[in-house]
Amino acid sequence: MTAVDLRAFVRANLPEPPARVLEVGAGAGRLARALRATGYDVVAIDPGSESEDVRTVALADLEEPAGSFAAAIAVVSLHHVDPLAESCRKLAEVVELGGTLVVDEFDAGAFDHGAAAWWLEQRRALGEEQPQTAEELVADHREHLHPLERIVAELEPYFELGPPVRGAWLHRWNLGDSLRAVEEEAIARGRLRAVGARLVGRRRG
Ligand SMILES: C[S@@+](CC[C@H](N)C(=O)[O-])C[C@H]1O[C@@H](n2cnc3c(N)ncnc32)[C@H](O)[C@@H]1O
Repeated sequence: MTAVDLRAFVRANLPEPPARVLEVGAGAGRLARALRATGYDVVAIDPGSESEDVRTVALADLEEPAGSFAAAIAVVSLHHVDPLAESCRKLAEVVELGGTLVVDEFDAGAFDHGAAAWWLEQRRALGEEQPQTAEELVADHREHLHPLERIVAELEPYFELGPPVRGAWLHRWNLGDSLRAVEEEAIARGRLRAVGARLVGRRRG
């Protein structure tokens, strides 16, 4: 089951059901199923998914009528999406004017040495030693993932976006919910940079 705070964030910002919703990068499709169970008509896409109820298509290749979704959701997926500009253009095409965009992201640009070292320390404490150093992890993320700033820049021409709300995210990366409070405490004390970001947008027009 998807974390309750994530489902609450998504639900609180979606139009009321029954609304047609696109989920980009749906993974195993858990969030999409939870939304369908509450009355939404969800089209979930992910080229890497093995779930029967997730369409294995990349965002840029999606074939759906223009303006056919009342809302779109992307949960830690836009930082992986390529080509980013073309994909954001497609997203804008299929979401109706005035429609909603709900984004939950990991900001690869905020993932610094301290964040990488904190994550490695927690993994070690769980008995899961990682092969990479903090420097290697940061370099790998910077090389392969789109930072939030770039994602926002590509979405901005099409969506009026609220400011990103930063928060804890690292516990969601192979650490577990029990470390959420530990991560939040470290952020609150100024010892750890928040790498999570949530934002909501409206399709311009
Ligand atoms: C970190 S996973 C997140 C999966 C899911 N949203 C979750 O929270 O568990 C990122 C997902 O984005 C998908 N993805 C990568 N490129 C994509 C694209 N061009 N269009 C749609 N999804 C894509 C990947 O296959 C992967 O499942």
